[in-house]
Amino acid sequence: MLKLEHLTKVYAALPSEYAGGIRDANIDLAPGTFFTLLGPSGCGKTTTLRCIAGLETPDTGRITVDGRPLFDSDRGISVPLHRRNIGMVFQSYAIWPHMSVFENVSFPMRVSKTQRYSTAEIAKAVDEALESVGLGGYAKRSATQLSGGQQQRVALARAIVHRPKLLLLDEPLSNLDAALREDMRTELKRLQRELGVTAVYVTHDQSEALAMSDTIAVIAKGRMMQVGSPRDIYFRPANEFVASFIGHTNILRGRIDGSAGTVALDGGGTLRCRTEGEVGPDVAISIRPEDIALAKKAAPANGDGMNVLPGVVTSASFLGNVVHYEIKAGSGSSTFRVEGEPAMPFDTGAEVVMSFRPEDTLAVPRS
Ligand SMILES: Nc1ncnc2c1ncn2[C@@H]1O[C@H](COP(=O)(O)OP(=O)(O)OP(=O)(O)O)[C@@H](O)[C@H]1O
Ligand SMILES: [Mg+2]
Repeated sequence: MLKLEHLTKVYAALPSEYAGGIRDANIDLAPGTFFTLLGPSGCGKTTTLRCIAGLETPDTGRITVDGRPLFDSDRGISVPLHRRNIGMVFQSYAIWPHMSVFENVSFPMRVSKTQRYSTAEIAKAVDEALESVGLGGYAKRSATQLSGGQQQRVALARAIVHRPKLLLLDEPLSNLDAALREDMRTELKRLQRELGVTAVYVTHDQSEALAMSDTIAVIAKGRMMQVGSPRDIYFRPANEFVASFIGHTNILRGRIDGSAGTVALDGGGTLRCRTEGEVGPDVAISIRPEDIALAKKAAPANGDGMNVLPGVVTSASFLGNVVHYEIKAGSGSSTFRVEGEPAMPFDTGAEVVMSFRPEDTLAVPRS
């Protein structure tokens, strides 16, 4: 449905450092996919979206939607934005305040250059779009009489009113309060499924990305670090950046030993680990806080083959269903984050042993 091949848009030609934009992006999405561009501020998410929309001209590469080339630098193809038939919702300018809800939502159909719509067709489509975002009966309202959440729904209705095959959403929920954002997440996802539309969603919020997406591209400094399902990028991160950006994790540095499956830590000590694919001798080790079990220091060793590290509790925060610990590991200076059972609390200053399975000790390329 959406294919990007070697898509590149660079703003300044500084070869040594990241000069903005996106470099060599490649994706190939099946119809109906909820696809998310995830990454820290300034990594190139909006640039990618603007290239797809036709608001920005890429330097090189190809963009194909539903088999139709919208941009191809080799063949000199660049379809103007009003002929791309794409729905868009942007964070910054949500809706036009001087127009009514009806005028806002009907806008893409009224100005369409690819198709002529009758008044009756427009009225019906606007009704349906407003109904689907939960704003049936709001058509005559002025845009200024709406709450922030309602305005965002109008923007969404406007983006889907002409039934685009591709919907682009740039942090559409970021200026809503936390509770409303959670509701809108669920609703947006339901709407996308019902319409069967392919969505490209931009966020820097990793929990939003995990909750909503079929496929996620994790971007850093203009490069797609990994493209995969939420489970893939959480359990099989391609490198240190992805491991530490998605969820919480503990990162250690070390060197893979000649003998497979063990790593010598830079701070001293050895761990057994899991690897995915090729990793060089110098690696980062990722261990999730929920995969570490705590025991009293004096307690007997906890089963065979477990990795064990002694430490001291430096902070313990009771959060009801879980206790968040900070543990200073024995000799090294690294601080671990551990999620513990509320039924088995440890106090600050307690000497403990952390144990975790080799399967949960993932060695990845450093980044
Ligand atoms: N028109 C432009 N001219 C020059 N540099 C630009 C331009 N647009 C974006 N950039 C640079 O390109 C990089 C990526 O910008 P982009 O807007 O794509 O980031 P983003 O991932 O959407 O960030 P955010 O999460 O903050 O919205 C940034 O370093 C930005 O400064
Ligand atoms: Mg942006």
